[in-house]
Amino acid sequence: MHASTDEWLHYFQTNRARPALPLPEPITTLEPALHRALVRALQCFHLGEAGEGRLGAEILRVRDPALDAALREAVVLYVAEEGRHAREVAQLLGALGARTLAGHRSELWFRTLRRSAGHRTKMLTIAAAEVVGVVFYEMLASQLAHVPAVARLGSVIGREEAAHLAMQRSYFERVTSGSRAKRLAIDVAFGAIVSAGVATLAFDHRDLFRALGVTRGDFAMRCAEIARTFTSAA
Ligand SMILES: [Fe+2]
Ligand SMILES: [Fe+2]
Repeated sequence: MHASTDEWLHYFQTNRARPALPLPEPITTLEPALHRALVRALQCFHLGEAGEGRLGAEILRVRDPALDAALREAVVLYVAEEGRHAREVAQLLGALGARTLAGHRSELWFRTLRRSAGHRTKMLTIAAAEVVGVVFYEMLASQLAHVPAVARLGSVIGREEAAHLAMQRSYFERVTSGSRAKRLAIDVAFGAIVSAGVATLAFDHRDLFRALGVTRGDFAMRCAEIARTFTSAA
């Protein structure tokens, strides 16, 4: 999706009205190893979804010629949308008889990087997290199609993460504004963050991959494919 900043604002304003995911019924039919691994992964993703609140306030103040008023407001709505994901993942955890957590290593990794950085690096880190988000949620939708609440969440949130990545792409196109050197620097940094994120996630959640019958290689390849939608030339 190649869109102007006004179109992005419109997208987020419209998507704010998408119907909330129905409150899931208790899920008690999963095989114990899968149940456990799914809970762990969702707890970890919940932290990532819930951890971006600061950027919403920050983006309104920072000096950045790549941000016009519409895009700033779009980013505020983008962050709010991540908050909605956090609530929906928390509800699913509730249906699985589990709670949300206060902190986890792989999420901490992203968070530490985000906090230590300027807002552009922060945006790039979040863009990299979108890549693993798209692939993780679509994996839930495809591998757990027989568990409607999980499949529904996977497909709805996966679609929204893909839109987030596309918005990030529009933002970074404005940042680079045709400079090949800047574009290359961003793509290299982005690739490095994605690779580290994919490796961490594939290791931390190897039990889930095993239970779902997904190899780490398949996951990494799909992440590379999605990452190319951000880095490939317009
Ligand atoms: Fe999200
Ligand atoms: Fe996202």
